[in-house]
Amino acid sequence: MTATYKWIDHTYDVVVVGAGGSGLRAALGCAQEGLRTACISKVFPTRSHTVAAQGGISASLGNMGEDHWQWHMYDTVKGSDWLGDQDSIEYLTRNAPKAVYELEHWGVPFSRTEEGKIYQRAFGGMTRNFGEGPVQRTCAAADRTGHAMLHTLYGNSLKFDVEFFIEYFALDLIMEDGVCRGVTAMDMATGELHRYRAQRVVLATGGYGRAYFSCTSAHTCTGDGNAMVLRAGLPLQDMEFVQFHPTGIYGAGCLITEGARGEGGYLTNSNGERFMERYAPTVKDLAPRDMVSRAMTIEIREGRGVGKNNDHIFLHLDHLDPALLHERLPGISESAAIFAGVDVTKEPIPVLPTVHYNMGGIPTNFYGEVVRKNGKNPDEVVEGLMAVGEAACVSVHGANRLGSNSLIDLVVFGRAVGLRCGEVLKAGATQPAIKDSQTESHLARLDATRNANGAIPTSKLRLEMQKIMQNNCAVFRTSESLKEGVGLIDAAFAKQGDIGIKDRTMTWNSDLIEALELQNLLGQAVVTMHGAENRKESRGAHAHEDFPDRNDEKWMKHTLANLDLETGKVKIDYRPVHMNTMTDEIKTIPPAARKY
Ligand code: FUM
Repeated sequence: MTATYKWIDHTYDVVVVGAGGSGLRAALGCAQEGLRTACISKVFPTRSHTVAAQGGISASLGNMGEDHWQWHMYDTVKGSDWLGDQDSIEYLTRNAPKAVYELEHWGVPFSRTEEGKIYQRAFGGMTRNFGEGPVQRTCAAADRTGHAMLHTLYGNSLKFDVEFFIEYFALDLIMEDGVCRGVTAMDMATGELHRYRAQRVVLATGGYGRAYFSCTSAHTCTGDGNAMVLRAGLPLQDMEFVQFHPTGIYGAGCLITEGARGEGGYLTNSNGERFMERYAPTVKDLAPRDMVSRAMTIEIREGRGVGKNNDHIFLHLDHLDPALLHERLPGISESAAIFAGVDVTKEPIPVLPTVHYNMGGIPTNFYGEVVRKNGKNPDEVVEGLMAVGEAACVSVHGANRLGSNSLIDLVVFGRAVGLRCGEVLKAGATQPAIKDSQTESHLARLDATRNANGAIPTSKLRLEMQKIMQNNCAVFRTSESLKEGVGLIDAAFAKQGDIGIKDRTMTWNSDLIEALELQNLLGQAVVTMHGAENRKESRGAHAHEDFPDRNDEKWMKHTLANLDLETGKVKIDYRPVHMNTMTDEIKTIPPAARKY
């Protein structure tokens, strides 16, 4: 095999895979610490999916009224339905203001208040004084916050001499006796194969929204790092928790920011009723996403959906001042016109809950170090491997993420990775040589996929997987839908061996890349469905109709799922939720009913 394919070898202190908000922030931080840092990305950095983030980034700056990190922490723990690790949540919310000011100083063009402070809007589940009512905590650059952040972070990464490998597709982790020694990748333009030796590999590869049929995620969101972790024999955590954003445009799936409701928008059913008042009397349309998505689904199921088929809901912005829409929500006004043919100043937008975010991912501690369970130690660090952003499960979002807590997660934990690497690594330290035998399996998989001669086109199997996930692992789940889903997704996984691709070249072979991405997605779809089938309770985004209540006694624990790639068998284990906080300033936020 190695006679046919040749590796080009590199040595770095740190290699970051992924150039979205978390990858760029981590790479920039490592470079600032004097570490030689590479960043590998399958798309040009400013095309990473962070660019699509709209509404904003949460931090208790208190620019629009009183606010405190402790309130933010309380909201995040409650939003997570008590599955979030409270030490990590304290780290997130305490460090959030610092991380936002850092972005401001680097040049992010935030919207401004009259006095020139960073503008903040209301977002779902963000409250004042431990749940009393909505607070304006989400810092915004109009409705293009991710775009503004990504461009600023990329520019600053270049300033700090991060070395980029752009349009490179990461293949697999180089593991030696449970330690990560590096990563391999293919230059998609030339087909050249690269082998990176590094003291630390940081996976910042985002979520796997494309396992579903309707999602707000870019086509590139195939969770490549998560899949590499599964292939390395490590588990993924809490994969059953998949977030549906309440306001995807009906039919198109693209995002209408929660910021639209933060600026005063509201949802109505076919009776013209503002139904969220019934489901969440205190915060109404600004309830957390899992609750709003469920409420919308119930309205539709009970025959109160709008439209010809009564199958969606209206989002009203038509009562708002057109000048405000122009200033604060220009992006979604344009999206509504293009994808729904709606003038938001005059008509409501047709919307439907759409897959948006993966709470689950690669288990890490709040330094960004990947952890695994080893005997009695549930938090053993996997040497050499880190993860950050949506790929990681740190776990600050638990069973349900609050809107605008994702962008802050990217930069707070991206920053933490840089600080940690600066603390524990020595620039230029000697590293063991990589042996060809350690990367033989990477080539074997690539070669088998490139020469795959089966009867099933990638697109057909991908669609089959997406429909199964959409139908059987949706906003509401039942024992029956999940049992059937497990059978169907296992069968889809087994069909991988019968994939056929047509292009055998190594130059811009999108046929090959799509097949590799499908392999990545299928593994994650399988552990998602099995994790969901296994969890016999309802918590956050996992709404199980046969087990409608949260069961803290039995289920306040993280799911760990391993996948045997040969047999497709899933092995489930658990890690305890960290109920301890980081500094003990707040002892713990004890479980309570989740009322809004
Ligand atoms: O609705 C939004 O603008 C999305 C934000 C988020 O997912 O955090």
